[in-house]
Amino acid sequence: MDRRGFVTSGMAAGLAGFTGAGGALGTLIERTPGLRQGRRDENGNIRLSSNENPLGVSPAARDAIIEAIVESNRYGGRRAEVIEALSNYLGVKPENLTLGFGSTEILQICTQAFQGPNTPLIAAVPTFEDVMDYQDTMPFEVKTIPLTPDLQHDIGRMREESKKRPSVVYFCNPNNPTGTITASADIDAWIAEAPESTIFLMDEAYLEYVTDDRYWDSLKWIEQKPNVVVIRTFSKIFGMAGLRLGYAVTHPTTATRLAEHAVQNSPNVLAGAAAVASLNDQGIVQRAIAVNTESKAIVHQTLDELGLEYLPTNTNFIMHRIQGDLATYRNRMADAGLLVGRNFPPMLDYNRLSFGLPNEMDQWADTIKGFRSKGWI
Ligand SMILES: Cc1ncc(COP(=O)(O)O)c(C=O)c1O
Repeated sequence: MDRRGFVTSGMAAGLAGFTGAGGALGTLIERTPGLRQGRRDENGNIRLSSNENPLGVSPAARDAIIEAIVESNRYGGRRAEVIEALSNYLGVKPENLTLGFGSTEILQICTQAFQGPNTPLIAAVPTFEDVMDYQDTMPFEVKTIPLTPDLQHDIGRMREESKKRPSVVYFCNPNNPTGTITASADIDAWIAEAPESTIFLMDEAYLEYVTDDRYWDSLKWIEQKPNVVVIRTFSKIFGMAGLRLGYAVTHPTTATRLAEHAVQNSPNVLAGAAAVASLNDQGIVQRAIAVNTESKAIVHQTLDELGLEYLPTNTNFIMHRIQGDLATYRNRMADAGLLVGRNFPPMLDYNRLSFGLPNEMDQWADTIKGFRSKGWI
């Protein structure tokens, strides 16, 4: 069954009664220390700002971490087990995989492996900034191309730019911070015809959250096209952001090239144990999607009620309009114990809101409605 079929039938069959009063989500929250109140920062604020998974690591991963602690004095990090579990999960060969300290290390590796003074990065704006940040210490050029009015990557302009010389093209799809998707058929049409000197970095950090059927993943390219790097993470759907594990899926020759720039012996033993347990946890993806869907509904309903426009989201966050100054809005939310968003130029009349647990989104909804009654929003 493909991912979409799996997700939809899983949602229908397995999730009835998961969320909502008395559902299994309630039981999970009761059983999991820290979840009852939601994940707070050190000052007790609710974090709705970094696109984290509010469910945290799965109970199975938590047990695996505790068990693995005694191995912390050893090198190895369960690397072989992670690669085996991941290759089974994705249906790829172990030689297709490169592990990183989060997917952001994969982006850094790609900068080092593929770019050069005459090989620029071509990226959208706004998009996830990390790959741009890795250019700062290098004499490399970045060509930024604004998203189209319907918030897709501007494939026409990116493609024209890539024809000038060898290039590295960054596709964040779904895109952070907009939450929007670029139609996969359009990207595929370019990849199919592109020369090998155009390298495609396909960042699929949020793929499991996608509901738009114009989207599909890029794994089909990896055996035919050594110039395609599919980049994924355990940080989002598997709730392991603090454990730092991401990976690239590529042609084996490309994996060999990436390995030259990767830190050896990754992952650390706790991340490795959690990853294997998470990949073997049959319900983990559906649970995260169910919670995200419920929280998204609360946010949509609230924004509709307040008449605040928002972008269609295929992720665990949403960009919505605010009225007034963005920093003032965020500070007021912080005063109410809610950390929301940061600046994403040029979209400074929008705030990016990450979806937390449904009860956290209820708290956000009450707060923003209170702002309306004070004439702040
Ligand atoms: C699009 C995108 N890619 C990559 C990352 C980095 O994730 P990590 O390094 O935790 O795997 C993020 C984090 O928010 C992201 O939004």
